[in-house]
Parts: sequence; C-alpha cells; structure tokens
Amino acid sequence: MDYPAWIVGGVGPGWIIGLIATFHVLISQFAVGGGIFLPTTEAWARKNNREDVIDFLKDFSRFFLILTNVVGAISGIGIWWAIGLISPQASSSLIRLFSFIWATEWAVFLVEIISLVFYYYGWEKMSPKVHQTIGWIYATTAWLSLFTINGILTFMLTPGDWPTTHNFMHAYFNNGFWPALVVRTLICISLAGIYATFVVSKMPQDSRFRKELLAYTSSWLVPTYGLLIASLIWYFSTLPAPILQSLLSGLAGGVGKAAFGNMAIVSRIALLGILAVITTGLGFFVSAYLNPREFTWRKSALLLAGMAIFVASYEYTREYLRKPYVIRGFMFSNGVPLKATTKKPLNRSFTEEMRFKPKDSTLGEQMFVGQCMACHTMSGYRALDKRLAGRDSESIYQLLIIMQKPEKENPYHSVMPPLIGTEEEVRALSAYLYDSIQVIEKKAKGTKVDKASVEN
Ligand code: HEC
Repeated sequence: MDYPAWIVGGVGPGWIIGLIATFHVLISQFAVGGGIFLPTTEAWARKNNREDVIDFLKDFSRFFLILTNVVGAISGIGIWWAIGLISPQASSSLIRLFSFIWATEWAVFLVEIISLVFYYYGWEKMSPKVHQTIGWIYATTAWLSLFTINGILTFMLTPGDWPTTHNFMHAYFNNGFWPALVVRTLICISLAGIYATFVVSKMPQDSRFRKELLAYTSSWLVPTYGLLIASLIWYFSTLPAPILQSLLSGLAGGVGKAAFGNMAIVSRIALLGILAVITTGLGFFVSAYLNPREFTWRKSALLLAGMAIFVASYEYTREYLRKPYVIRGFMFSNGVPLKATTKKPLNRSFTEEMRFKPKDSTLGEQMFVGQCMACHTMSGYRALDKRLAGRDSESIYQLLIIMQKPEKENPYHSVMPPLIGTEEEVRALSAYLYDSIQVIEKKAKGTKVDKASVEN
C-alpha cells in the first residue's frame, strides 16, 4: 500500500474503469478500422477516377478527425485518470515493466494524430500521391498503437511464464498476444465498415453510388465476421485451463451460492458477446449484402449496437476472468502482490504497511479500504451488506479468518485475495463491517442513527 486510496461508493471503482474503458475501446478501435478504410478506399477511388467517392471520403474524414482525435484522445486520458486513482499499485507495475512500450505507444500515437490532421486538411492542398501516403502513415501508426497496447492488455490476463522468469519478452509476447491482436484488428475493421454503411444509407435509395458502396463495404465485412468468430475461438483456446474451465462451467470452484451466481454471469456475458457478434454478422449479410436497396440507417444503428454489445461483453469477460488478480499470478485486484501473501505470514500487520491512510479513519476502515474496497462497496457494487446480512461481528470474524487459511481450507481463494492482518486488525475489520451494516439497515428502516455512537 504505497498510494492513497480513492474511496468510491455506489457502483464501485471497477465500473468507473469499465465504463470509460469500453467507451474508449469502441472509439479507438473505430479509429484503427477507419485508418485502414480511408486510404484503401481512397486508393480505389483514385484508380477508378471516382470524384464522388473522394467527396464522400472528405466528409467521412472530418467526422473521423473529431471523433478519434478529440473524443478518443480525451477518453484515453480518462483511462489513465481512472486506473491511476483506482489501481495505482498495478498501474505503477505496468509502467515500470513496460516503460519502453509506453514510450513507443506515445511516439506512435503522436504520429497518428498529426498524420490524421494532415490527411483531413490536405485533401485540396496536397498532390494525390502525397495525400495517399499520409493516409497509409495514419493507418500504419493507428494499427501500431493497437499492437503496442495489446501486449499489455493480454499480459494482465495471461502473463505466461513471466511471474517466474521475469523475462520481458515472455511478458509482452504472452499466449494471448497474437489471437487478441487478430480479434481486435477484425473488430476495428467491422466498426469502420458499419460506420461507412451508416453514411451511405442516408443517400437516395436509387443512387448508383449507394448501391456500389454498400456492395464494396459488404465485400469487406462479410468475411471479417467469419474470421472474427474463428479468431475468438482461437483466443479462448489459448486461455489457461482453469480460466477456461470456470468460463465454460460457469463455476468458480464451488464457492458459495453468490460466487456461483457471479461466475455464471461471466459465462452468460461471454455467450451474449458471441451471440451478438454472430447476429451482427448475419444481420449484415442479410440486410446490407442481400438487400442493399432497403438498407436504412436504422439497420446500421442496430448493427452498431450489436458490435457495442459484443465489445462490452468481450472487455467485461476479459476483466472478470482475471479475478481475484489485476495481473494474474502477480498482483491481486486490491493492489496486494501475490508475493506478499506467500512469502510472509498472513497474520502480520497490514495497516503498518499502509503509507497513506484515510483521514481520521479507524483500524477497521483502513483494513476495508486497503483490502476489500477494490471489489466490494458496503451497499452498492458486490454489496457486503447483502453478503453479510444476518451475521454478527463474531460470525463475520470467523468468515474473515477463513480468508487467512491455506488454499485447501479456504474456498474463497479462487475469487478473493488472502487476508493480511493481525488478530486485532481482523477483529477491527469485522466490527467495522458489522457496524456499517447496522447503520445501513437502520437507515433503510428510516431510523435516525447517531453515527458517532456507531463509529466507535
Ligand atoms: C479481488 C476482488 C475481491 C476482494 C479484494 C475481496 N473480495 Fe469478497 N468477493 C469477491 C468475489 C468475486 C466474491 C464471490 C462473488 C460474490 O459474492 O459476488 C466475493 C464474496 C465475498 C463474500 C460472500 C461470501 C459467501 O460465502 O457468499 C463476502 C462476505 C466477502 N466477499 C467479503 C470480503 C471482504 C470482507 C473483503 C476484504 C477483506 C473482500 N471480500 C475482498 C471478490 C473480492
């Protein structure tokens, strides 16, 4: 615990990162896909002397510039803001391990945004050849920024041999690297294609251009969906056996009803994602490819929604499968390194190791903030008031003690990090949890409670 904690109630910290990240991923993957779509289509239009397509691309690139360079960049900073505040320990480890990659990402992104600005403003001012080259530079650097980040994202779920070898190449080019890169690249292409159909669908129904462009985009998208489904199967097949097992069975190793319910949710969400991508692919084939005349912007919006559901479930599944780790086999979601729970006895003081404590906090609150808050709030996200309802302080203590037991006697080890703390600290935590639940219950009953009397 080297950093201050940001105390988040309600939806909990996980959802803050999740919402910003999903939004950013949608925009940035669209940026990569558009990066490939723009110069490819420009090359085709120039070869066929199609001024109308060039005009379409000019419009497309303006919207594209604003969306990716402004919304994409700002939401990207949003991710740094959220992970820095919510998981400072993990962010710091990732920055140290991958500093060279982050530097590369920064350089690549800089070229990406500058080339897009030149691409947009250069339609009239540059020779077609130069303009086309700038387009390719944009496409390459946009894809490279996906390439660089991909290794870090996959590392968090499948760090491979790195926790033992500490070899950078093992960390970066981990098992998930190539399949995830292919999955993400295909998502990018399909997002850009769907957006193009959106624009095209607004053109007059009998325009030749509309029909041609839909056919052209379909020729990209139909195979993309087939490949996407195949690459998802490849991706899942590279996951370590225990992860895959829990995903397939919807079980988390027999951990109480609540755990059962939650892992079942991740299995369902993964399934939802796969169904969404299949439905979108088929929907595209039937609507845009087979019936281009009747294709409307509403259908386009439905396809986009299908992809958004898929992207959100893919990211959710990936994040959830990491639990209880933020970096599998290395650091738990609450920022406690695995090493800290295996090398030293668990019944040592935790709060003494905290460099920052919430102002005027009790021992119990410090324990909660340091070890539980990453995954539970008291009454919102994965709420502890419901999970501990009906228990008194002693029975909560007994439950916490199980979290200190060795793996075999601790059914929670696959979903929760082991608990560090002296007997006094664990007792303080159980009292804190019990008292906080009392306050919540009394509030729910509408009784006014003197908070001060409960906090002591
Ligand atoms: C890495 C995330 C994580 C951390 C940190 C964590 N938990 Fe959990 N906890 C879970 C998950 C996942 C479950 C099982 C699914 C569920 O109940 O939603 C769970 C379940 C529980 C349950 C229900 C157990 C049952 O038998 O039904 C309790 C109580 C609980 N946690 C308390 C705590 C306390 C107290 C702390 C802090 C010392 C803590 N958790 C830290 C993720 C975490």
